[in-house]
Amino acid sequence: MEHTILVLNGPNLNLLGTREPEKYGQITLEELEVDLRRDFPHIQLSFYQSNHEGELIDRLHQAYESGVSGIVFNPGAYTHTSVALRDAIKAIDLPVVEVHISNVYARESFRHFSYLAPVCAGQISGLGIGGYNLAIRWLAMEF
Ligand code: DQA
Repeated sequence: MEHTILVLNGPNLNLLGTREPEKYGQITLEELEVDLRRDFPHIQLSFYQSNHEGELIDRLHQAYESGVSGIVFNPGAYTHTSVALRDAIKAIDLPVVEVHISNVYARESFRHFSYLAPVCAGQISGLGIGGYNLAIRWLAMEF
């Protein structure tokens, strides 16, 4: 059976590569997608980015309904604000790994709190875009 992992990115991550490159690097989201597909040729990867909370919630529900095996989720700033995304993760019976490119604990104090972390399988923060690769690896170990 072929497993599918959803790589979900929230607000402003469409600007990866040009947005504060000293924090988030110079690789674009499209380049990250190419790299991850190359790194995991045997896993079906599905990518989705939205700047809208409701669309991210819909995508989480849809992932569950369509039989996705796990989710790598960089919720961007919604990490620190969204009870609705937390409830959506809680509502689906799927492992979700929360990924942050930057080390949120080394930044402003409002970034130190995550509404989502308690309902995620785990969190990777501060390892650059390498965090996505590590999250996929961990999910694949759970298959
Ligand atoms: C981020 C960290 C968040 O605090 C921020 O709002 C982002 C990106 C990261 O990947 O480091 O948009 O999730």
